[in-house]
Amino acid sequence: MKVLVTGANGTLGTEVVAHLRSLGFFVREHDRVLGAMSGDLRDRDVVGEALAGVDAVVHAAAIPEPISHPPHETFGNNVESTFHVLDLAGRTGIPRVVNVSSASAFGFAWSSRSVSPRSVPVTDEHPYVGDDAYGLSKQVGELTAATASRQWDMTVVSLRFPFIGAGERLRRHLGPIHADAAADRAGLWAWLHTRDAARAVAAALTADITGAPVITVAAPDTTALEPTANLLRRFHPNTKIEREPAGFETVFDVTRGYDLLDYHPEHGWR
Ligand SMILES: NC(=O)c1ccc[n+]([C@@H]2O[C@H](COP(=O)([O-])OP(=O)(O)OC[C@H]3O[C@@H](n4cnc5c(N)ncnc54)[C@H](O)[C@@H]3O)[C@@H](O)[C@H]2O)c1
Repeated sequence: MKVLVTGANGTLGTEVVAHLRSLGFFVREHDRVLGAMSGDLRDRDVVGEALAGVDAVVHAAAIPEPISHPPHETFGNNVESTFHVLDLAGRTGIPRVVNVSSASAFGFAWSSRSVSPRSVPVTDEHPYVGDDAYGLSKQVGELTAATASRQWDMTVVSLRFPFIGAGERLRRHLGPIHADAAADRAGLWAWLHTRDAARAVAAALTADITGAPVITVAAPDTTALEPTANLLRRFHPNTKIEREPAGFETVFDVTRGYDLLDYHPEHGWR
C-alpha cells in the first residue's frame, strides 16, 4: 500500500514514517520544506501533486498548539490544509484517510476558563467545551472528515491523541507534573508514547471500519504520581464520577478505541 504522510518532518510524522516503512508500507513523505515532496498544503495544487497515485493518506500536518502563532493563522492553516487533503482525496477516489486530530478537540486542554469534564470516564461523545483556535481547528477537521466521508463514500478515521512524547520531550513534560500535579490539570494527565501513536495510526490505516469515526487513543495510565481519583477530587470537584478510575488509570474511555483499532499501547514511563 502506498501512503502519503503529511507533516512528515514533525514529532509524530517522523515516527509514523519509520513505523509504516518497518511494516512494509511504501511511504511518500510531505512537509513544508522537505527534499522531494514539499510545499504548503494550503495550496491546492501542492496537495493534488502530493496525493497523486497513493492508496491512503495519514494527515498529520498542523500547527499543533494555539500559542506559537496568532489564532487566525493556527485556525486557517489547520482547517484549510485539512479541507484540501480530504476533499481532493475524496475526488481522486482514495478510499482511506487517517486524520490526526487531538484530545484538544474536547476543549479542555487550552481552555482559559479552567473547564472540567462533565463526567468521567470521558467518552468520545463528550460535548465540545473549547474556547481556543487550535481545539476549534481540530473540531472543524473532524467535521470536515465526516463531510468528506459522506460525500465521497470514503473512510476517514480521526484519532484524538493527548500529549505525544518520548525520550527528552516526555521527560520535559513529566518533570513539572511530578513537581505539582496542577501542571497537567487541563490535559487531564493524559499522554501517549510517540511510538504508540505511530502504531495507532498504522492500525487506523488497516482496521476493518467504515465512515468517519472519532477515536480517542491515550495511554492506559496518566502522567501523574498521584492516583487519578484523588486528582479528580482535588482539581475537578464538579466532575461526575460515573466510574471511579482505578489507580493511575486514564480519565478517557479508551476501551472503545482499542477495540475498534484492535490495538493496545505498549510503551509506558513508570
Ligand atoms: N504533539 C502533540 O503532543 C500532539 C498531541 C495531539 C495531537 N497532535 C497532532 O499531531 C499532528 C502532528 O503534530 P506534531 O507534534 O508532530 O507537530 P509538529 O509541529 O512537530 O509537526 C507538524 C508538521 O506539519 C507541518 N505543517 C504544518 N502546517 C503545514 C502546511 N500548511 N503545509 C505543509 N506542512 C505543514 C510542519 O512543517 C511540521 O513539520 C498534528 O496534527 C497535531 O495537531 C499532536
